[in-house]
Amino acid sequence: MNTDIFKIYPDSIDSEAIRSAASVIKAGGLVAFPTETVYGLGADATDKNAAKKIYAAKGRPSDNPLIIHVASPEDARIYAEVSELYERLAKAFMPGPLTVIMPKKLIVPDEVTGGLDSVAVRCPSHPIARALISAAGVAIAAPSANISGSPSPTCAEHVIKDMQGRIETIIDGGECEIGLESTIVKIIGEKLVMLRPGAITADALRCVCDEVEIASAVTESLGENERPLSPGMKYRHYAPSSPLVLLDGTREAVASFLSAAQASENCAILCYSEEKALLKNENIIDIGSESDLKAQAQRLFGALRKADTFGCDIIYAHLPVQEGLGLALYNRLIRAAAHTVRKVNS
Ligand code: TXA
Ligand code: MG
Repeated sequence: MNTDIFKIYPDSIDSEAIRSAASVIKAGGLVAFPTETVYGLGADATDKNAAKKIYAAKGRPSDNPLIIHVASPEDARIYAEVSELYERLAKAFMPGPLTVIMPKKLIVPDEVTGGLDSVAVRCPSHPIARALISAAGVAIAAPSANISGSPSPTCAEHVIKDMQGRIETIIDGGECEIGLESTIVKIIGEKLVMLRPGAITADALRCVCDEVEIASAVTESLGENERPLSPGMKYRHYAPSSPLVLLDGTREAVASFLSAAQASENCAILCYSEEKALLKNENIIDIGSESDLKAQAQRLFGALRKADTFGCDIIYAHLPVQEGLGLALYNRLIRAAAHTVRKVNS
């Protein structure tokens, strides 16, 4: 298949290019587009055949449901049974990086929800995503636009690498600002269960809802026969092809471990900016200052992809703190590392 690639600038949107991409969606085709979190691989959320094409293009298991993207928070009611708690979440966080799981309406086919009776709804804030959904005139079902299992794409080059030749259109809208996927919550009565942490933190959610529970699969690995709340939790994710090991220890202990590793192993390192001067300038990737979690989030998936191109035997990264945006970094890294943590002591 020939893939059309359109460059669109978020601050001066080419409406002709948006119309053309929207017509691909309306005709049942696939369009990759930027959002503020990561790039999505979009199709008409009411078209079961289009949904099947998403699973085929990604190589994704068909029981792993898709998020549907709406142009405005009010449009959620077309696709889901919305509650008063949804309205409060929408008022506080939408448009933005929050996905809410609610009971689904019949208009959403089983192919989109993996046969579940609930649907995940998100209203992105990215101007290109919003223009595309509005022009399509229908919700757009979109998982991250990567081959299943590899890190989510945060720029058009990542999407082109994974999806060129597999889909009709790619919109290149530059780099994603946040770099990690949306926070996912499920509404259960008056309670919220966080299934995936993201830029909307648990503390932010607690300002709107008294009871916010964090699903154990966010930080722990699932037991052998455990059924996850979200089907996506059971799949290996974000994984680079070289093994990734997370280092847990004091700043000094990790730094001396890394220097020793560089001398004795063929390793790649995701390091903090402050550590660069202490390390040999070989196969290291600066993921931002130790205190700048936003920069680390924005760079993480690109760094994992880049680390893979070095062809090293092993990749080292820091074990993030489990607070605020750190919880989202922790969740992505611990899964990319298949829960491999090495304690280092000085
Ligand atoms: O930021 C994002 O959320 C990006 C952009 C493109 O919007 N999308 C994204 O989609 O990350 P995806 O498919 O890569 O991740 C969606 C996750 C999966 O783990 C899936 O299992 C879960 O959401 N999910 C979707 N619908 C669900 C439902 N009804 N119940 C439980 N989990 C659901
Ligand atoms: Mg994904």
